[in-house]
Amino acid sequence: MDSETAIRFEHFGSGEGRHRHGLTLSLSRVIRKREKLKNGARDSLSLPHPLFLQVLSSRLQHQISQTPKPSFSPPNQTKIPMKRVVSGVQPTGSIHLGNYLGAIKNWVALQDTYETLFFIVDLHAITLPYDPQELRKATRDTAALYLACGVDISKASVFVQSHVRAHVDLMWLLSSSTPIGWLQKMTQFKEKSRKEGGENASVSLLTYPVLMAADILLYKSDFVPVGEDQKQHLELARDLAQRVNNLYGGRKWKKLGGRGGSIFKIPEPLIPQVGARVMSLTDGRSKMSKSAPSDQSRINLLDSKDLIADKIKRCKTDSFVGLEYDNAERPECNNLLSVYQIVSGKTKDEVMEECKDMSWGTFKPLLTDAVVEHLSPIQVRYQEITAESAYLDKVLTEGADKATEIAEVTIRNLKQAMGFYI
Ligand code: TYM
Repeated sequence: MDSETAIRFEHFGSGEGRHRHGLTLSLSRVIRKREKLKNGARDSLSLPHPLFLQVLSSRLQHQISQTPKPSFSPPNQTKIPMKRVVSGVQPTGSIHLGNYLGAIKNWVALQDTYETLFFIVDLHAITLPYDPQELRKATRDTAALYLACGVDISKASVFVQSHVRAHVDLMWLLSSSTPIGWLQKMTQFKEKSRKEGGENASVSLLTYPVLMAADILLYKSDFVPVGEDQKQHLELARDLAQRVNNLYGGRKWKKLGGRGGSIFKIPEPLIPQVGARVMSLTDGRSKMSKSAPSDQSRINLLDSKDLIADKIKRCKTDSFVGLEYDNAERPECNNLLSVYQIVSGKTKDEVMEECKDMSWGTFKPLLTDAVVEHLSPIQVRYQEITAESAYLDKVLTEGADKATEIAEVTIRNLKQAMGFYI
């Protein structure tokens, strides 16, 4: 991966178009510059230096002010709306390196360029059997980790999904337009319901993707940064948005007193080129997952230095000579090199050159040091944030208020278009 990859994403639709977006290009240029300054030693996108953020923010402000305005602009349309990004993580178990590299780390890079809303999806966390004693704590811990990873509340709204009622309201409204067949063919539903014993699986496990679509469509989101496992859910959200727009939008909505046109935006997933599917430490062919029975299979963001060293020391490897990427017979090797690449902030070529002749015995301590070095500032900030409980409450209340404001407009529009007496 080169230095830009953390913000270079795979997405649906006409690919290259987005890279013409002025602010995206500018962000990548600023990041490249910062990387050069830092001599490529550490990951540029982990915990942005405050000075860097200040410079970036003033550059973006400058850019926005320099963006040519239309020759005629009515007084209430002078502000250029920022594109919007939303994403979330379930508060189940510990957040691991997969959640971080596949999603959260990329949120941090996006918050400077886009309007961002990041939520803790507690309503999703109850779709499988769970411990109510744990949910409350996991919700707060997840929020604290977002901030510790570099989500900046002066730019992003952070809130708990269940604190914004509109998520459930929209889910119900969308459910009436969702064919059951769409849900029954979701890979995650098939896998998870099988584990739950088929007929015993909860209805919410089936309808989960409708709630996820609601999370996204509620905010008229342009982009949704997620790991690869969420791609199918994103496709469903897009299909559902299109279906509801066709069923209730346009002239039909206008006749009911609405503005007409599309009710929902069609969101694009942002899936990173590297880190989209971090694999288990004990099996390079399975995804790193919170629900895997063995904690040995994942590195949690809050694992101690010794635990990380132990997990990497004991992780599955192979008996080939040297280390290499992209050999289908060596999934563990590809995975560990990719993790090293991201946490060290090096390019793929640099890692290939550095590691091609290494043995596992040489590489594992190198990887351990890079992971520990990357995670330790996150762990320090996490301790600081959780030490001050009133602070987190304030952040979450403010985030929910901001989100509610946006969400209520969408609910009102959809209810109007669907013919409710509002
Ligand atoms: P969740 O909580 O399972 O995972 C959170 C994020 O982490 C990514 N991820 C991974 N990325 C790379 N490698 C891995 N091994 C790995 N494991 C998980 C996920 O792709 C995800 O981006 N349904 C979602 C949460 C959700 C959501 C949303 C996301 C609910 N509503 C709206 C975005 C927008 C989920 O269960 O993620």
